[in-house]
Amino acid sequence: MKAVRGATTVDIDSAKQIKERVKELLESICTQNSIDKEEIICIMFSNTLDIRSYYPAKAARECGFSGNALYSSLEPEIEGSLARCIRVMLFVDKDIEIKHVYLHSAENLRKDLTKKYNIALDGPAGSGKSTVSKLIAKKLNILCLDTGAMYRACGLKCHLSGVSVNDEKAVEAILKDTQITVGYENGVQITYLDGKDVSSDIRKPEISMLASAVAAWPYVRTKMVEAQREIAKNTSCVLDGRDIGSNVLPNAEYKFFLTAKPEIRAKRRAEENAAKGFSQPFDEILADIIRRDEQDINREVAPLVKAKDAVEVDSSYMSIDEVVNFILNKIQEKV
Ligand code: DC
Repeated sequence: MKAVRGATTVDIDSAKQIKERVKELLESICTQNSIDKEEIICIMFSNTLDIRSYYPAKAARECGFSGNALYSSLEPEIEGSLARCIRVMLFVDKDIEIKHVYLHSAENLRKDLTKKYNIALDGPAGSGKSTVSKLIAKKLNILCLDTGAMYRACGLKCHLSGVSVNDEKAVEAILKDTQITVGYENGVQITYLDGKDVSSDIRKPEISMLASAVAAWPYVRTKMVEAQREIAKNTSCVLDGRDIGSNVLPNAEYKFFLTAKPEIRAKRRAEENAAKGFSQPFDEILADIIRRDEQDINREVAPLVKAKDAVEVDSSYMSIDEVVNFILNKIQEKV
């Protein structure tokens, strides 16, 4: 069983508008969540005391929800609360990804759900950004853009073409005619290099250093940043990277900087590699992480840096769930 939340407001306390707004709210909830009326177990309403002309539950019955158990109650009068507001909780006998629905002035109650917003999640290699951002995106039902994957695809292209990542001119020449795009399958990012799915090739340890090196060139950064901004422009998403909060989206609504001690990051990377079937000695992984940090922090263009207004989270001794909950709570606090 799942519970879907929703709310709406009326401009005037009239039976006509209450009926219209209740119908609109219930129909939006059903459409956005692909719910049939038969799958609804019950619908519970509450409304503020300034609504007196009609029961929302009665309005629901009259607009076609007559076969469902319906209930209305009154909310306490809380100073400063939203005026003429009708809230709903709908229980459904279905295992679905829930989309809560907030309409009219009630949009302001849950800006995190109703407004387009971006979350910048930056940090060094192995800080847990990619796992955390995927979980946050899933929780908030928004897109997750792994920007490192795009630089990895650039590194892979150089590798496949025999171009040295240290040769700026050659890198620019090869990438000018290269297409790097991302798509999504069931919410999972697929990274394409010239139309070919390279999602697993770009994860090979040898590509990490190439990605970091190639990401230092201004031409590469301009091309990737443009593509990232285009995706983030119209879509709510979490972007994980190095320079999202400081450079790609300086006006992102929420910014976080995830860190962890190098040894802990290396240990996590070793476990990840083992799970993917890549073997690399621990000391080598640690040395790579330290070298990559140096390279990412010290490059001239858009280096790895904590944006001034980002919230820093040291995940060294936190579980993934703790980090995810900390970030979700911070987002909710700011709404
Ligand atoms: O997050 P990752 O390890 O997949 O990233 C690979 C490299 O790409 C990283 O070492 C630096 C670079 N990168 C970057 O410069 N800017 C970003 N926004 C993301 C990654």
